[in-house]
Amino acid sequence: MSKYVITGGNRLNGEVNIQGAKNSALPILAAALLINGTTVLHNCPNLSDTRAALEILKALGCSCVQNENDIYINSSSLSCSKIPADLMLKMRSSVVFLGAILSRCSVATITAPGGCELGPRPIDLHLKAIKELGFSVCDTGEIITCKRESPIKNVEISLDFPSVGATENVILASCVSGGRVSLCNAAKEPEIVDLANFINKAGGRVQGAGTDQIEIIGVKRLYSVEHTVIPDRIVAATFMSAAAVTGGEIFLKNVCPNHLIAVMAAFREMGCNIKWTENSLLIKAESPLKRIKTLRSTVYSGFPTDAGPLLVASLIKAQGTSVFIENIFENRFNYIGELRRLSADIKVFGKVAVIEGVKTLNGANLSCTDLRGGAAAVIAALGANGQSKIDNIFHIERGYEALPETLGNLSAIIKKE
Ligand code: EPZ
Repeated sequence: MSKYVITGGNRLNGEVNIQGAKNSALPILAAALLINGTTVLHNCPNLSDTRAALEILKALGCSCVQNENDIYINSSSLSCSKIPADLMLKMRSSVVFLGAILSRCSVATITAPGGCELGPRPIDLHLKAIKELGFSVCDTGEIITCKRESPIKNVEISLDFPSVGATENVILASCVSGGRVSLCNAAKEPEIVDLANFINKAGGRVQGAGTDQIEIIGVKRLYSVEHTVIPDRIVAATFMSAAAVTGGEIFLKNVCPNHLIAVMAAFREMGCNIKWTENSLLIKAESPLKRIKTLRSTVYSGFPTDAGPLLVASLIKAQGTSVFIENIFENRFNYIGELRRLSADIKVFGKVAVIEGVKTLNGANLSCTDLRGGAAAVIAALGANGQSKIDNIFHIERGYEALPETLGNLSAIIKKE
């Protein structure tokens, strides 16, 4: 099994180009099913999750060609409305193919999606919304089959929680229909805006993305489209954390600082100096870092849950006591046990983590518990003295392109073994 071997303690310095956003690319790859013609995607990160999305498209009968970060998809040969269980299990985003398949075929069969273990991750909000759009839902506990029972006319849907995936599914299920859908309490994440921009470029009419009130006016068809995926804000936060924990200075290129306002505020509170332009960001860390009295994860435009583990991984070396409260997922603290192996002092009380900063961390053997928890282990190991070995890195490879090489270019000592 592959591992990262990291010798920590080096101050990270240099420039890094931020990859395209995984969480934008995945629903856009699902949306490619709706295009009459060709989809050309640029800046699509080359990750195990995006490769799994391409496998799903191929299993449904589409033709897909990948040339590094460019993807070409033709879905005119779509021949199947069922996603095999092994592909469903590869990632959580397999569930957003449901809306796209329903739009195209009026019937879809899926099984439960996989993805990171962050506590229970039901899809009840997705299925409730799909029903409200006029589809029947038959859930045997193993297999879920949805079928169109009536055409979408004028539908109003209000999500009980602004779920990112459920918002994407409603958009995908209704953007090619004769009807009009008003979606209240929609997710406002930048990845939703990117999906709407993609659909609108192809001739769709999705209005209000980025607010909690989205209006989808179904069009008859979507046409060939070329689109560039937005930069990954969580990968950007990862490199900001790497700078913070090592007292370094990193210049991030191809980034969207506007998507990182809450993250930048947290790093500033830690004493980091940040300057940014429309598409670049410079972070310079001061040692020692300051504590953050209380930081809470919440929906966009608040502090993102996915950046929580990354911030905690730098707070373990801050001066004083910090508190991080996780409000989105029930069980996102599995990685904390791994950080403790480096001598980090963290206590967990339900959804609250109390971090007592320590002066030194010592290298150890760690395991990735999930994607961002794995990235947090890497960050913490970079700030620790001596050697750390990190296994189960397949979690990290779901979301980060060439992480050891990129960190190596910033003077980190890291290799994949
Ligand atoms: C997306 O997951 C992201 N994944 C996650 O990123 C991210 O953490 C999350 O949004 C929140 O920002 C992708 O975009 C592929 P949700 P998603 O539906 O859509 C509950 C990463 O590291 N819920 O907004 O699955 C759910 O259990 C990943 O890149 C229901 O109860 O998130 C959770 O507590 C991890 N029923 C909360 O809502 C539902 O039907 C937020 O989930 C759906 C969700």
